Amino acid sequence: MTIGIIGSGAMGAGIAQVLVVAGHPVRLLDQHPGALEKAVAGIEANLRRLVAKGQLAPEAAGAAAARLCPTAYLPDFADCGLVLEAVVEDLAAKQQLFRDVEAVVAAACVLATNTSSLSVASIAAACQRPERFVGLHFFNPAPLMQLVEIVPAVQTRPGLAEEMRALVLGWGKLPVIAQDTPGFIVNRVARPFYGEAIRLLEEGIADAATIDWAMTTLGGFRMGPFALMDFIGHDVNFRVTESVFAGFFFDPRYRPSITQKRLLEAGYFGRKSGRGFYDYAPGAPAPAPRQDETLGYLILYRVLALLINEAVDALALRVASCSDLELAMTRGVNYPHGLLAWADALGPARVLAWLDALYEEYREDRYRASPLLRKMARSNQLFIPLERVAQA
Ligand code: NAI
Repeated sequence: MTIGIIGSGAMGAGIAQVLVVAGHPVRLLDQHPGALEKAVAGIEANLRRLVAKGQLAPEAAGAAAARLCPTAYLPDFADCGLVLEAVVEDLAAKQQLFRDVEAVVAAACVLATNTSSLSVASIAAACQRPERFVGLHFFNPAPLMQLVEIVPAVQTRPGLAEEMRALVLGWGKLPVIAQDTPGFIVNRVARPFYGEAIRLLEEGIADAATIDWAMTTLGGFRMGPFALMDFIGHDVNFRVTESVFAGFFFDPRYRPSITQKRLLEAGYFGRKSGRGFYDYAPGAPAPAPRQDETLGYLILYRVLALLINEAVDALALRVASCSDLELAMTRGVNYPHGLLAWADALGPARVLAWLDALYEEYREDRYRASPLLRKMARSNQLFIPLERVAQA
């Protein structure tokens, strides 16, 4: 099947690389000729790098490069079976794009968006045939990140999400199906990893280095929240938090932090600008955590309780299935354990007790326990029954 990709920036180019390696002829279009040239050169360089590392045979790399067809001409998309957009995150631009695409593609062509913060329904609404529209949310960099969130909109025809799941699996990626709700799975469930860590910092409970140490050394996370926010960039990370907060009609649970906003206003974007929570200037002193386990576990359990609560609430609200939630957070963003399995290991009653104690102390909605967590704790049930663990 020929696949069309519109927008050849960071995401579009990465996705095009995945698809040509998986064997699809790909038409790649961008409104800026410079962006298209840069994307083609970047994909070819990446393919050469894969060959040099022995991860791709030279003939396979040559064949993949030959499948890539850059074009500035939308009618070249006429034979596509799937068209995916990765253009600027702007509703009007995406809607106009799909109006233009529908004028050239066949009725059976599937249309997809890589949006991370707009609703899939709102983009699909511009289409004449919105039933063939779906979200396909890749992560950056697309060739390296395994997870793809498949997001059917209210208009999407039944069965299309499952068809996309099979297709994405064929690309060697890990598909999960998420409801068309703000942040889908990962960008929603991960919010407390950042938000609660910043809150601990703001309250003076610990400094950034100590919180990062607790989450990595005691919790097993690959990166601590502050190092990770500096790595992602505060411009990107703050924007995601803002969009999830607005998407939930300003539910205070997702409220962005003033501390992070100030970093952004100061131009402290993180690693890319040389300064974020940490200073990356040459010779800057290395962060020195206070390696106090009592304090460290207090930090870990507070952040973890909120993460688990978010995952449980996503399950309760049918944002995704239990197994897709676990896959998204472990294989997608490398959490050391699935959050539902972690809830089981700690005991739902214990996690609930932590949350209720926090709620009692602060009287803030961010510590509001999910009714499902309360139900599981009351009935002494596990999220992942032991017989399923044994089968896995
Ligand atoms: P980018 O800015 O790197 O690339 C966007 C490209 O689209 C540019 O080359 C631009 O020239 C082109 N473009 C803009 N309007 C166009 C139009 N009407 N027709 C043709 N080309 C057009 O952006 P990036 O980071 O690749 O993001 C693209 C989409 O992917 C956005 O919707 C974003 O929210 C989403 N996304 C981004 C992720 C990231 O980490 N960067 C992760 C997952 C999704």
